[in-house]
Amino acid sequence: MIFDTHAHYDSGAFNADRFTTLEAVHAAGVGLIIDPGCDARSSRMAVGLAEHYPFFYAAVGIHPEDMDKYDLEAYAEICELVQHPKCVAVGEVGLDYYWDASQKEEQKILFRRQIELAIENDKPLIVHDREAHQDCLDIVRDYPEARGVFHCYSGSAEMAKELLKRGWYLGFDGPITYKNARKALEVLEICPTDRILIETDSPYLSPVPLRGKRNDSRNLRYVIEKIAEVKALSPEEVERLTWENGKRLFGID
Ligand code: NI
Repeated sequence: MIFDTHAHYDSGAFNADRFTTLEAVHAAGVGLIIDPGCDARSSRMAVGLAEHYPFFYAAVGIHPEDMDKYDLEAYAEICELVQHPKCVAVGEVGLDYYWDASQKEEQKILFRRQIELAIENDKPLIVHDREAHQDCLDIVRDYPEARGVFHCYSGSAEMAKELLKRGWYLGFDGPITYKNARKALEVLEICPTDRILIETDSPYLSPVPLRGKRNDSRNLRYVIEKIAEVKALSPEEVERLTWENGKRLFGID
């Protein structure tokens, strides 16, 4: 069975067919899904879906791209939702200097606050790091007790080694199937098989040959095939390993 550890089924892209898509995805062999929220509204929706489907889990948090929706009320709601029995992580949180580098200091404060929230609640983090590698690493170094995954990992192999040494997992998504994936494939080569997670980031990041279309968890088979090729394993073995890794990190039985 496949474990998609990062899919935004709360996204408006699924408004027309959210429930039929989830049921089709589950019937096709996707046994577990985590939906990370990006603000209070989407976190609430992820928890709602998790209450509805036994195979569905939520993470809650405020994404750096959604800084404008961050206020005391939104944060109070995140603090409440994180205690929900089907909330398995704090995320999607982190730093994003690609979309907006004008609020770096505010992003860092919010990232630190949510790392502390994860530690207080003994939950792993789902970290978004886009064009902010050094700052993400510097912040994470300040919290040796923090654990979790660097989602859709895009840093260097050097940084990956340090994160791995500190116990972090790395998430691999559709982009590993792209032509320009050299750097991500180097990281995959050095990543131990017990630290690899597979993610779609649905509705985004569709793998080749579906690039540009709406993504869903069924398309993880292309990501699994790529990992199998790089690690010289069978796709079944990759599916089994990433299933176990996800359950271990997120504490799911
Ligand atoms: Ni995401």
